[in-house]
Amino acid sequence: MSEAGRLTDEKTLAATGGQELERVVYDAARIQRRVEEMGAAISEHYPADADLLVLGLLKGSFIFLADLVRQISLPVQVDFLVVSSYGLGTTTTGEVKTLYDPSTPLQGRDVVLVEDIVDSGTTMNELVPALLDRDLGSLEICALLHKRVAEDLVLEPRWVGFDAPREFLVGYGLDHAEDFRHLPFIATIPEEDTE
Ligand code: PRP
Repeated sequence: MSEAGRLTDEKTLAATGGQELERVVYDAARIQRRVEEMGAAISEHYPADADLLVLGLLKGSFIFLADLVRQISLPVQVDFLVVSSYGLGTTTTGEVKTLYDPSTPLQGRDVVLVEDIVDSGTTMNELVPALLDRDLGSLEICALLHKRVAEDLVLEPRWVGFDAPREFLVGYGLDHAEDFRHLPFIATIPEEDTE
C-alpha cells in the first residue's frame, strides 16, 4: 500500500498493467471462506434428489461459480447465460441483451441463478420473469455481492455473500471495461477512473 491507500504492490501492478487500484474490499481468503459457507447453505437447502442446475450469468460470475459449485455437496449440473447491460461504461444502460441462452432444458429443474453482483437490479428483473416462464421446478438466486440499492427486485437472492459498498468494484470476475476480472480479490478503483 502506498500513501492514499492505493494498491501499489508489484504483483498487483503487474496484473493491472500499472493501473493503481484504490483499496481491497474483500481479500481472497475472505471470499473463499464466504463461498464455502454459501456452498454449504445451498447444499442444506435442497433435498438429495433435487434436480439442481447452477446457471451462471456470464461473464461476471465465472470465477464465483467455479468456486461455488466445488462447495456444493449434491449432484449438480452447470450451464450459463450471457447477458449484457453495461457495455464499456460504468453505469447501467437499463437494457439487458440476451446473447446466449442455456442449451440445457430448464423445465422442472431446480435452478440456482448465480450472479456476481446485484446493483440496480435491472439484470435480475429482466431475467427472472423470463426464466419463470420456462416452467422451472424452482428458482433461487445466489449473488456474491448485493449493493442493496434495488428496491423492487422481482425475486430477492436467497443467498448473498456480502452487502457491498456502493462503489465501483473490480476483481474476482467483476470488470471495468473488461479489465481486472482475473484479480483474486475485490477492490475499488479510483473514482476518477470510472468517469
Ligand atoms: C454486471 C454484473 C451483473 C449486472 C448487475 O454485468 O455482472 O450481471 O451488471 O447490475 P444491475 O443489477 O444494475 O443490472 P454486465 O452487464 O456488466 O456484464 P458482465 O457480467 O459481462 O460484466
